[in-house]
Amino acid sequence: MSKIEELKKELKNLGSEYAKIKTLPAEERKAFGEKINQKKQAILAEISKLEDEGTEIVEKIDLTAPFAEKPDFKKFGTKHPLTSELDKVISIYSGMGFDVMEPFQLDDEFHMFESLNFPEGHPARDGYDTFRTAEGFIPPAHTSTMQHRALKKYKKNLDEEKNIAVVIPGRVFRNEDVDATHEHTFYQCEGIFVSENATMGEMLGVLKQFFEIYYEQSLNIKTQPGYFPFTEPSVELLIEKPKSLGGKGDGWLEMLGCGMIHPNVLKCAGIDPEKYKGFAWGGGIDRLVMLKYQLNDIRYFESAKLEFLKEF
Ligand code: DAH
Repeated sequence: MSKIEELKKELKNLGSEYAKIKTLPAEERKAFGEKINQKKQAILAEISKLEDEGTEIVEKIDLTAPFAEKPDFKKFGTKHPLTSELDKVISIYSGMGFDVMEPFQLDDEFHMFESLNFPEGHPARDGYDTFRTAEGFIPPAHTSTMQHRALKKYKKNLDEEKNIAVVIPGRVFRNEDVDATHEHTFYQCEGIFVSENATMGEMLGVLKQFFEIYYEQSLNIKTQPGYFPFTEPSVELLIEKPKSLGGKGDGWLEMLGCGMIHPNVLKCAGIDPEKYKGFAWGGGIDRLVMLKYQLNDIRYFESAKLEFLKEF
């Protein structure tokens, strides 16, 4: 039994302790009740800590599978194009003052859905074509699964009167029908910013600047309404496709989803939504790169086609 399962069992056993209250003399009941409540809170806090650390995932998955010695990359090949481009993406955000956080490659229901304001049975859960392991864990379908952990980790910044500014690049997985524009495995980059007075305008400024640096040219952007349970309002950000990226000068491209972080998401991570506001965004890296190099098939990235990979 995993540590979390043990704690959950302990929590269940507390139920019978509560039943004992009735058998006690009236003057002892209050103190007894308080003691059980304290115990319950302590167990809940421990469970939440272990869940955030991913302890249960590590305990249940066999990590003893053999691995190859670190290959000599210089001798055998070069960095994968997505890795090189992701390095560029990260350095742009770092240059703007964003910290970088590593994502999990196996996560749980709480971080994939509940912490992001998708209650159980919420219809938007279906939109994420989520894979599950036999143990019930989730290979993340978007990098937003890290939002709760990032908010909790950097919450101390707010107490020190600093902002939260973090990006989380990561590999995500969806049960998609694969074609030239859809893959089961792709990369996203998530961004989070929280301060006392964060605004949508600031968010658009950060994103416009990001795209302009990445594509090395000035670009027009616009938004259109979107829907994500974890942002309110939610929008989609589009850039005008310039001739230099294969456009005819008149097309708009949807690049990412973004919006103001929903108060429930902040609250769930222990941040007071009355006092702090935040914005977040998440977008695909593969698409970003395809546009830059005018590639027309996303499947090449995961294909091990050396002629293609060597071009980078
Ligand atoms: N996670 C969303 C997706 O994969 C994209 C997204 C939308 C991320 C809005 C965000 C956000 O952080 O605020 O479809």
